[in-house]
Amino acid sequence: MRVLITGAGGQVGHELVSVFGAGGHEVAGFDHASLDITSRDAVHAAIVEFHPDAIVHSAAWTAVDACEADPDRAYAVNAMGTRFIAESARLVDAAVHYISTDYVFDGTKESAYVEWDQTNPQSVYGASKLAGEHELGENSSIIRTSWVCGFHGPNMVKTILRIAAEHETLSFVDDQRGCPTFADDLAAMIAQLVVERRTGIFHVTNAGPVSWYEFAREVLLASGQDPDRVLPVATADLQPPRPAPRPANSVLDHAALRLSGIDTMADFRDPLRRLVAALGEVTN
Ligand SMILES: NC(=O)c1ccc[n+]([C@@H]2O[C@H](COP(=O)([O-])OP(=O)(O)OC[C@H]3O[C@@H](n4cnc5c(N)ncnc54)[C@H](OP(=O)(O)O)[C@@H]3O)[C@@H](O)[C@H]2O)c1
Repeated sequence: MRVLITGAGGQVGHELVSVFGAGGHEVAGFDHASLDITSRDAVHAAIVEFHPDAIVHSAAWTAVDACEADPDRAYAVNAMGTRFIAESARLVDAAVHYISTDYVFDGTKESAYVEWDQTNPQSVYGASKLAGEHELGENSSIIRTSWVCGFHGPNMVKTILRIAAEHETLSFVDDQRGCPTFADDLAAMIAQLVVERRTGIFHVTNAGPVSWYEFAREVLLASGQDPDRVLPVATADLQPPRPAPRPANSVLDHAALRLSGIDTMADFRDPLRRLVAALGEVTN
């Protein structure tokens, strides 16, 4: 297939370019510098020129707290950018696969969210990503994921390891639960959905819901450190409080994968060990 990837410089985008390349597909990966998705003309030119069969739309403004202070920028990138991609995709009959987020939910559900649950974003980022979902046409899929960590770019595994190297104890909230997801596993699943020409909403995460507190403990364990150095803290006690509210429960159920007969992804502890080992090789 001919596959165009937006946000190719991001942590998921990097893995998407590798996975599709390794699968023998013709890949055009555009990072922010080579394609600004807020330019309708640039999006049109890139898509019409490459004439992809599928577009994996990974570009987004992902700075959740910064989005609160600049909603126009959040909507320009996450909603209008997606509109431009959907518009040009229709011209060349390309499928659009849009990566979305657990932050479209308000987090008040007691159990895991299925694909058909009511959305109710609490942050500007979540609302702008949901607006992007609404820009898609018929030949498209929405792949909602959560708590993404990967080798490329900043993420919570790197943050936890850095704090652990600088401080004796680390505090993480124990009242926000979600599913950590590793960018390489996510990219492989996205490639499968693209190749099978799936449409509709899919929740795609690694298995094993945890709180951030539990996740930080797992990161220390995976790097051979004492997990008891991590202390639980309530979101309400965070100093300073974070500008964007986060859902207390954003655990995603993989109902659409399961009901499609697709194997769901591994427990997050496997790819976590892989990532910690790979990061260790770089720093040693
Ligand atoms: N990270 C998570 O925990 C998480 C969770 C759920 C869903 N997602 C979704 O997963 C997708 C990939 O996220 P990620 O974790 O790979 O984030 P990321 O590393 O921030 O990658 C997003 C990329 O989009 C680029 N970008 C920003 N504005 C752009 C614009 N106007 N035009 C073109 N590119 C632009 C960024 O480039 P610059 O950095 O150079 O601006 C960045 O390389 C996003 O759609 C995100 O909403 C992420």
